[in-house]
Amino acid sequence: MRNRDVQDISKEVTTGVLGQKSFLPVSHPDYKYPTSPNPYWGKLQESSDLVYSDNKTEHNRGQWLSRFSSNALGQIPSPELHVEIGCNAGHVIVEWAAANPKGLYLGIDWKFKAIYRGAEKARKRHLENLLFLRAYAERLEFIFGPAEIDHLYLFFPDPWPKKAHWKHRFVTTERLKNLASLVKPGGTFEIKTDHPEYFEWMLEALSPCESLWETLSVSRNLHEGNPLAHQLTMPAVTLFERIFIKEGKPVHRILLKRRANS
Ligand SMILES: C[S@@+](CC[C@H](N)C(=O)[O-])C[C@H]1O[C@@H](n2cnc3c(N)ncnc32)[C@H](O)[C@@H]1O
Repeated sequence: MRNRDVQDISKEVTTGVLGQKSFLPVSHPDYKYPTSPNPYWGKLQESSDLVYSDNKTEHNRGQWLSRFSSNALGQIPSPELHVEIGCNAGHVIVEWAAANPKGLYLGIDWKFKAIYRGAEKARKRHLENLLFLRAYAERLEFIFGPAEIDHLYLFFPDPWPKKAHWKHRFVTTERLKNLASLVKPGGTFEIKTDHPEYFEWMLEALSPCESLWETLSVSRNLHEGNPLAHQLTMPAVTLFERIFIKEGKPVHRILLKRRANS
């Protein structure tokens, strides 16, 4: 799966329709998502009130709360926006949204089919407090306005273990600074990884950001001491987390809080 992700990033980010080059880097403000021959690309363009795709994910910047149904909003006096980066087919976020109708949830992934599947699940379960975005996580600052997010989650981002690929790692000092501007003071950012070296990289990236993020907890073996960890199911653990627990790999987790004074 991860190898496929490696191929996906170079293909999707650098080619458009019929192999045309997309010249702007994905992080450029004027980047335009290329069309794709993937059949789910077309399906996502046609749908829907539950899914926003490609550049349409950037039309509601700063106004995401208003994109949820008035029915969902009516039941929530002070709604909090939870955003999961790399939600895959919504394995966890669908369950969260179902269990907590008072929260508003947005799942983001770059995979067409996964997002389509996630939205199908939300529709079948009549969840009005959950939306899906098919977008590159590298464009979060164009998708969300300042302090728009209450709780941000990043579970098992691709670790890009080879040195030549480190430049693709999502967590960097610059990104942690940018993300801080999108999260409300007092809001949280939770990150999990199975990759010890990437985890240390993340902590290092975090150290110049102490004025923005307070570290609430750091664990290098989240499920240590829990003899029943292998029985945990979603959404207590994510799809990948369950696999890593079964493989005996320690789950690393960091929980950050957005400081109020910066
Ligand atoms: C290793 S999987 C983890 C999935 C899920 N978070 C879990 O814990 O089970 C990484 C996920 O991030 C998504 N992803 C990777 N790079 C991405 C990017 N640049 N933008 C959006 N999604 C991305 C992948 O498609 C995949 O669904």
